Amino acid sequence: MPTKNVPAVTRERLLRSARKVMKNAYAPFSNFRVGAAILTTKGQVFAGCNVENSSYGLTNCAERTAIFSAVAKAGPQLEIVAVAVVNDQGEPCSPCGACRQVIYEFGPRAVIFYQGEKGPKHNLITELLPDGFRLA
Ligand code: THU
Repeated sequence: MPTKNVPAVTRERLLRSARKVMKNAYAPFSNFRVGAAILTTKGQVFAGCNVENSSYGLTNCAERTAIFSAVAKAGPQLEIVAVAVVNDQGEPCSPCGACRQVIYEFGPRAVIFYQGEKGPKHNLITELLPDGFRLA
């Protein structure tokens, strides 16, 4: 199945999961709470929120929290089919460059659902990150 054709019901499930976990965000510095949920080829959903730090650069984005949680729980043999990202400000918010590379590592065919300038958008990770880096 081409991963861009994620059924609407699955997309809504991912968005619901992202909205739920967003409430756990630790974002005292930006006040910008983000939630992300990923769907794997096995049908599992994993979620994560942003976790900030007084040393700002140590902040972990929601997308990476979700992916790292998935690996910790299910092991490294997972493929990401789709990622949903939401925030509590209704702001445009596509994954940052670092998260795009991390998504690509585990989901080179993944589709990303996010808030664009003019409303909900979706793009393949390869559209957001052309020529992603891969070792081997
Ligand atoms: N952030 C995410 O968690 N995901 C994104 O896609 C964009 C930015 C977080 C990082 C930081 O905690 C806050 O949003 C403001 O940049």
